[in-house]
Amino acid sequence: MGDLAGVVGKLPYLAGLGVDGLWLNPFYASPGHDHGYDVADHCAVDPAYGSLEGFDELVATAHGHGIRVILDVVPNHASIAHPWFAAALAAGPGSPQRGRFHFADGQGPDGNEPPNNWRSIFGGPAWTRISEPDGTPGQWYLHTFAAEQPDWNWTHADVPALFERVLSFWLDRGVDGFRVDVAQGLHKLAGLPDHPDAWADEATGDPVNPNAWNQPAVHQVWRSWRRLVEDYTARDGRDRLLIGEVGLTDPAAVADYTRPGELHHTFCFPFAHATFDADTYRHVITTALAHHPDGVAWVANNHDLPRAVTRHTPTPRDRDGDGDGDGEELPAGADPAQIGLARARAAAALMLALPGAVYLYQGEELGLPDVADLPVTVLKDPMYHRSGGTRPGRDGCRVPLPWTTSPDHHHGFSPPATTTPAWLPQPPTWADLAADTQHHTTTSTLNLYRQALALRRTIPDLATTTLTLHTDTPPGLLALSRGTHLTTYTNTTHHPIPTPHPHPGQPILTTHPTPHPTDTIPPNTTVWYHHDTPADAASTADDAVTEAI
Ligand code: NOJ
Repeated sequence: MGDLAGVVGKLPYLAGLGVDGLWLNPFYASPGHDHGYDVADHCAVDPAYGSLEGFDELVATAHGHGIRVILDVVPNHASIAHPWFAAALAAGPGSPQRGRFHFADGQGPDGNEPPNNWRSIFGGPAWTRISEPDGTPGQWYLHTFAAEQPDWNWTHADVPALFERVLSFWLDRGVDGFRVDVAQGLHKLAGLPDHPDAWADEATGDPVNPNAWNQPAVHQVWRSWRRLVEDYTARDGRDRLLIGEVGLTDPAAVADYTRPGELHHTFCFPFAHATFDADTYRHVITTALAHHPDGVAWVANNHDLPRAVTRHTPTPRDRDGDGDGDGEELPAGADPAQIGLARARAAAALMLALPGAVYLYQGEELGLPDVADLPVTVLKDPMYHRSGGTRPGRDGCRVPLPWTTSPDHHHGFSPPATTTPAWLPQPPTWADLAADTQHHTTTSTLNLYRQALALRRTIPDLATTTLTLHTDTPPGLLALSRGTHLTTYTNTTHHPIPTPHPHPGQPILTTHPTPHPTDTIPPNTTVWYHHDTPADAASTADDAVTEAI
């Protein structure tokens, strides 16, 4: 499964990659119905992952490498294995223990209809009926996600108090911040009224329920958490970070979560969802910078998304793979998988040229694709199971990394003595993507990421807060400048494009695996140029959009 000791063992690899922080998915005591996002004890390490002592060693070792540690905190929902849920079941209707969750009587003569029409994000109703302690059919409880994840009732004073204790527990152990799960959730509209436009399909989740998401009261939570982490900073001078997963579609609403005194960052999911298209990226970048003047947190991959290599691979339905359905054909003989990889590399180099924070998901630095053909018998994701198999779920991006080319003990993922299968099987083709081989291959994706991350640290222009998005570029070419000496071009087409300026400067990074003329951007490629004077940049400042962040 992977464990904390395994993470400690790979900290030198992460330091060599050039990251300065590590976000750990939940490792807390959990029955594991949703990859650990069903937490039974927020202050305990699940024995499958290690121990508190092992966690302390991880923090100390990471800090020794200059890597900060961010934990995943899951405040919208608990686990059915949380002792407070057991207490709620035992205490009966109307009890304060039930008040920590959302219990309600059912509708219909026998109460056998859910209390409202809300749908779970993973499919099916957002309510499950319990048996009362005397065995009779009883109340229903709300679960925005799987039935094993009952939603907390944030209007019950015990709940915010619990989470303040949880944050303090981990801050006292030295962590540097938190990634906040479902930060638009927590509070629900009082009375839990029907969603006026609930998604009707039984198998489809409802990701946009306005009565379940984005209630004004949730911002009080972020203000109080911000005060709490700043108290720690005031004591020892060390920064602490709060980054929210805010799953809202309106960028202005997402921006509310980073107002002064609230979260520091929210993930920029539109970047991850963008098709590989220059205009789309231009729009995403401009919108993100406009809404987050204090810094954007870019992301192209995470544990919930099909990996970028696969997302950017052309399919029979979308033949050129840019998502615009324009019917453009792939060049003759082109290998769609190679195009997917080339685009993922180019998108990563674009992202790493942007101002703000960048979050990488383990394995993207190896150019791993999604594993789309996992046998049904190994699938773990409740999204797959609750949707009756109509939604593939997220297991395909969670397959363990291949550390070694040798397939022994799951390409080095498991200890040598392992006799059991890995929790998700790696495909045989991953031998070619193993970290040990990529380490020794100059043009590998691993070395591309290392190179880009090293340049991000060393080039002063990449540490500035300004970005110039050029507007006079040919179709399919995205050009941007950072500071006065760095310009990058991303060619999102299938044909080479000459740089708009004949002397673009010195290429310092290219995502193309083989040498190419310095004044031409190959198809599906990003190139970074360093130039001596602003006049060498891609275009004049007159037709540039400059965003100060
Ligand atoms: C978002 C997490 O990233 C995802 O993995 C999880 O299933 C849901 N929140 C519920 O916690």
